[in-house]
Amino acid sequence: MSREMRRFDGRVALVTGAGSGIGAACAARLAAEGACVGVLDVRASAAKASASAIRGHGGTAVALTCDVSDEKQVESAVAELVASFGRLDVLHSNAAALGRDVYGRDDDALDAAVWDRTMAVNLRGAMLMVKHAVPAMPDGGAIVVTSSVSGLTGDTDHAAYGTSKAAIGGFIRYVATMYGKRGIRCNAVAPALVMTEEARRALGPERLAEKAAERLLPWPCEVGDVAGLVCFLASDEARCITGQTVVIDSGTLAHRPEHAIRQAL
Ligand SMILES: NC(=O)c1ccc[n+]([C@@H]2O[C@H](COP(=O)([O-])OP(=O)(O)OC[C@H]3O[C@@H](n4cnc5c(N)ncnc54)[C@H](O)[C@@H]3O)[C@@H](O)[C@H]2O)c1
Repeated sequence: MSREMRRFDGRVALVTGAGSGIGAACAARLAAEGACVGVLDVRASAAKASASAIRGHGGTAVALTCDVSDEKQVESAVAELVASFGRLDVLHSNAAALGRDVYGRDDDALDAAVWDRTMAVNLRGAMLMVKHAVPAMPDGGAIVVTSSVSGLTGDTDHAAYGTSKAAIGGFIRYVATMYGKRGIRCNAVAPALVMTEEARRALGPERLAEKAAERLLPWPCEVGDVAGLVCFLASDEARCITGQTVVIDSGTLAHRPEHAIRQAL
């Protein structure tokens, strides 16, 4: 990474859900641009692997094991990060309950337990991270929350997931409003399908073809594309942007649905 691209030299960042996928890519990019990074995940081994990969590339990272829905664990994780690096400048709240037991059962049965766990991790988790991160940002800072285009549309399944992501759009405006005068910005990124390893594994050729037909651009979003946007929003280049949800979707929502479908047929 060239010197002029190291936008986070001397800064401290915390990324949740950083054990894989988008979070791992964002943590790696923040570290490559100079940040000391707290790599937080509920899966201890995944957090350790991401932190160790960052250190392997010459970056600085500490692994933090934490369930973001548990306030005591969140408080301890932020305290551990501050003990390691002194303070916090960037929070990327990205963890979501995406396992088979939660997201995988989030269908039109509207299961209350699935709803509660989805809200606990995706929404309450973001709130708890913000609550405990803000006091560690005495000189201001930047918060980015991972939302989803599912929070901007309807669907026949994943109502709990989509509703939790829609609520993130409201939450980030409140955070931006509450802490703006202290120099803390808060934005969200809303991706459509991102080609994580899990997405590549889980989606068959038919579903991938459907996704390709839905979007305007020939290419899907890769984790590095989302990391680029998160790092921009977290950097001083975005110093006048707050309270916004930025869609990153290769043109999935920018048109009437039939337009892309007609072109693909
Ligand atoms: N991949 C996509 O297509 C896509 C699209 C839109 C939005 N998103 C959002 O991007 C974010 C990352 O998703 P991903 O695709 O990289 O998935 P992922 O499963 O690779 O990453 C999610 C991470 O969150 C962790 N996690 C789950 N519950 C947690 C908890 N309670 N506390 C702490 N960590 C926890 C998991 O262990 C995992 O490492 C999520 O917020 C997801 O909703 C993903």
